[in-house]
Amino acid sequence: MQAIAFLGTGNMGGALARAACRGTDPASVLLTNRTYSKAAALAEELGCTAVHSNCEAVAQARILMLGVKPQMMAGLLDEIKPVIKASLARGEEKIVVSMAAGLPISFYLSALDCPELPFLRIMPNTPAAVGQGMTLVSSCNATAEALDEFEALFHAAGRFDRISEAQMDAAGVVAGCTPAFACLFMEALADGGVRAGLTRRQAQEYAAQAVLGTAALLLESGKHPGVLKDEVCSPGGSTIAGVEMLEAGSFRYAAMEAVTAAVKRSMELGKPKE
Ligand SMILES: NC(=O)c1ccc[n+]([C@@H]2O[C@H](COP(=O)([O-])OP(=O)(O)OC[C@H]3O[C@@H](n4cnc5c(N)ncnc54)[C@H](OP(=O)(O)O)[C@@H]3O)[C@@H](O)[C@H]2O)c1
Repeated sequence: MQAIAFLGTGNMGGALARAACRGTDPASVLLTNRTYSKAAALAEELGCTAVHSNCEAVAQARILMLGVKPQMMAGLLDEIKPVIKASLARGEEKIVVSMAAGLPISFYLSALDCPELPFLRIMPNTPAAVGQGMTLVSSCNATAEALDEFEALFHAAGRFDRISEAQMDAAGVVAGCTPAFACLFMEALADGGVRAGLTRRQAQEYAAQAVLGTAALLLESGKHPGVLKDEVCSPGGSTIAGVEMLEAGSFRYAAMEAVTAAVKRSMELGKPKE
């Protein structure tokens, strides 16, 4: 039996398929996608296998990665439910993993009519494509061994943290939406650099590397971000002059409000439609 199948190889499913092919033998990875040519092109690049049918992939794989948009999920579950039920009836093990935002685990178990199915709800982020992801994992019916196996398979995606499902909206926003928020910040820093006479290439590279390096410093030093900020601000210097402008623009308040608004929206999207 193949180890793992990705159903839906778009931005996020594709990023995790890349990580899986770095963490395991690509020969054990299957890809399907509504537009088959997308799965085929990725399979050729990664040295894994594309198949035409979701049901064929589900029948062959033990770990099933659901990578479609939340609004497509009910249709996909309807399609693969008979294959999953038949495999379980034969005593085969399946671990189903969904990366869809918002949808609770109860939605899947009920749609598949398999209350005992080992299920992982994950919230990855796009930096997983370059091994710098932050993936949150909550689970139901899954053994500690299954969770360990999953993280080992995806070790090339970056960091993992196991959380309760109740924390998924908040954690999913801080990890999953931050790439967009951070890109806005880096774009604005680069705009400022261009305004001050740098080329776009220079300004973008310097801003991105500074953000990357500061994030590494924060994680590795374990220091509070305020301490790292103070270490850069000399008395009467240029950095504190810039910090004053960010405070005048309510930068930290805007970032907090962005997280609050995104968590609210994530909770709305996860509610069943009336
Ligand atoms: N992007 C992120 O940063 C991010 C972060 C965390 C979680 N997620 C979650 O990841 C999931 C995918 O998001 P995305 O950004 O990767 O979207 P995406 O780029 O649109 O990818 C979705 C893929 O699913 C394929 N698809 C649709 N219906 C299918 C079906 N029935 N069977 C097989 N494949 C099917 C689509 O095929 P086509 O090529 O025909 O369109 C498309 O390639 C979503 O549930 C999202 O909530 C995304």
